[in-house]
Amino acid sequence: KYEQRVDSVLKLMTLDEKIGQLNQYTGNWQATGPVVEDPTKIEQIKAGKVGSMLNIKSVKHTRELQEYAMQSRLRIPLMFGLDVVHGLRTIYPIPLGEAASFDLDLMKRTAAGAAKEASAQGVHWTFAPMIDISRDARWGRVMEGAGEDTWYGCKVAQARVSGFQGDDLSDPHTIMACAKHFAAYGACIAGKDYNTVDISEQTLHEVYLPPFKAAVDAGVASFMNSFNDINGIPATGNTYIQRDLLKGSWNFNGLTVSDWGSIREMIPHGYVSDLKGAAEKAILAGCDIDMESRAYHIHLKKLVEEGTVSEGYIDDAVRRILFKKFELGLFDDPFLYCDETREKEVVLSEELKNLSREAGAKSIVLLKNDQGSLPLNNPKKIAVIGSLAKSQKDMLGFWANEGIVDEVVTVYEGLKNKYPESDIVYTDGYDLATNELHLMDARNAAMQSDVVIVAVGERFENSGEAKSRADINIHPNHQLLVKELKKTGKNVVVLLMGGRPMIFNEMTPHADAILLTWWLGTEAGNAIADVLAGDYNPSGKLPMTFPAHVGQIPIYYNYKNTGRPENKEIGYSCRYQDIDFEPAYPFGYGLSYTDFLISEPVVKDSVFSLKTPLEVCVKVKNTGKYAGKETVQLYIRDLVASLTRPVKELRGLQQVELQPGEEKEINFMLTEKELGFESACKGWTVEPGLFDVMVGNSALNVKKVRVELKQ
Ligand code: IFM
Repeated sequence: KYEQRVDSVLKLMTLDEKIGQLNQYTGNWQATGPVVEDPTKIEQIKAGKVGSMLNIKSVKHTRELQEYAMQSRLRIPLMFGLDVVHGLRTIYPIPLGEAASFDLDLMKRTAAGAAKEASAQGVHWTFAPMIDISRDARWGRVMEGAGEDTWYGCKVAQARVSGFQGDDLSDPHTIMACAKHFAAYGACIAGKDYNTVDISEQTLHEVYLPPFKAAVDAGVASFMNSFNDINGIPATGNTYIQRDLLKGSWNFNGLTVSDWGSIREMIPHGYVSDLKGAAEKAILAGCDIDMESRAYHIHLKKLVEEGTVSEGYIDDAVRRILFKKFELGLFDDPFLYCDETREKEVVLSEELKNLSREAGAKSIVLLKNDQGSLPLNNPKKIAVIGSLAKSQKDMLGFWANEGIVDEVVTVYEGLKNKYPESDIVYTDGYDLATNELHLMDARNAAMQSDVVIVAVGERFENSGEAKSRADINIHPNHQLLVKELKKTGKNVVVLLMGGRPMIFNEMTPHADAILLTWWLGTEAGNAIADVLAGDYNPSGKLPMTFPAHVGQIPIYYNYKNTGRPENKEIGYSCRYQDIDFEPAYPFGYGLSYTDFLISEPVVKDSVFSLKTPLEVCVKVKNTGKYAGKETVQLYIRDLVASLTRPVKELRGLQQVELQPGEEKEINFMLTEKELGFESACKGWTVEPGLFDVMVGNSALNVKKVRVELKQ
């Protein structure tokens, strides 16, 4: 559609102006790398030497900079990018938390809500979704993704991309999405952020790349490469993944951007000796935009003039960027996203806050509920204990962008809103900064109450970028607090907060109920109160395995059987001598206030061919006393294949809402898309033979039927 217009602009451009389009600078906020103080930025914009900016928001600021760009010779508009990861001003649950909802429509709606708010603040482009598969809970950035499963990660990637982008980028309520970090950033050795990635071609293609391919299929507008090297080659300078695979075989026609300074970082990687070499490797590998390395700005012209880099590479990159600027409608109206009235109406609107509250409630996972401790039975006296219950900052979580602390509903406030007639006493229980215990006050508060709600876990800064941890046990004092409170004989309900799988074995036996509440954003307190009161019956499921011991990490449900499967009775089996194999809570796990019974799976014909899909039916019955929602999960195991297969692979999901006593039949259709696997050599491969089809409500609670796929 824009081919001719793009070409006509490109023809007018000098080499300097072309290189300008590949140059991206930060504004004043949110630096996650070294910022070069540069008083000439404005002059560079006016000279057409900057193509896009990051970390600029609000109509006022974006308009001001766009006006400078309009003074440049060709009046090419600037594009403004920002990490709108889980909302801009209205903050939604962290992405890992929201992934626990297993509700793709919800994820699409919150991404659309974030886009609506960001675009009203002059932003054109989010550096999200993060779609890195993460199997190592020590990595701080697990909080930004959808967890450990590739199949589910593909679905979430598509939901979030289509939420941000809608159907038409020129609709000023939508923004460009960015699939990041390309690639395999989540496979960093030992979960240390930015660390080396050394994985087989097969693992790369089977586990880490599919969500990126799914994002391309969903029409994602941009890609960000990653800080890590992959099998010896930094992703930013990696021709195979960017030019051959992404822009080649996958036919991606959007743009690519480096991560912050990642072009420059190829020097300490030891891949190039200087910034000029870094610029050369990056542009040849297919990295279109240089975010904050200044490598293109300083060296690209010379590289072209001396013939090291052909101008064709620059033209290709510029073309991709201009295309997006046309698609965003910026050539027609550079101020399309600069409408103060819209900004006032949309930002933190009731509609978006309600969405945040809904998403919050749906993200919560009930891990334990002894003797039906929850939902609360209209308590008259409630003790709220733990500084996290009154901390606004910590409810926002990492990457909370412009989320304003004062606008956050805390747990304490949420309970006050829910139970205006009750007597609600708060005491901090521990110091937020030092974790020093304040046991006496905590005990006294508990003694005077009908129920104790205690908030423990991670602070917002414990998970996120550069927040890797060797020990993911929650602080021992938080666990001790729960133990001490249980000694009062009261009903102790734990709210576990954090951005990753955590370990808390010491406290578990002393808690009557445990709700995993992640970091839920602006409406956290109201969402938590909705679940505590039973106004929303918890339906979240874990998108990552929660280990029982740090030594089990990386632990994930879809491991391989090996030639000597784990067996406690046999010495020479695949296990540790000193710890068990089972996780504390498996992938897909999450309780409800009601109970569900899922029947044995039934197939029409256990020997089948690919001509007709294999239909798998189960009956789901609500056998408890509350209405509720169950997420029914279907896993397969390909028993014998040309490449060894995991013991389980998630290949189907259905959510079913049931009234007490109600039963519904649900069907899954298995085709080659569900029965195959990605082979690095052969692509998508389906092999005849025996399969186990397993249906249940967590990776460890399934019933199975064996089927045979005929040639
Ligand atoms: O988008 C981020 C990326 O995920 C980490 N480095 C900085 C970028 C821009 O803020």
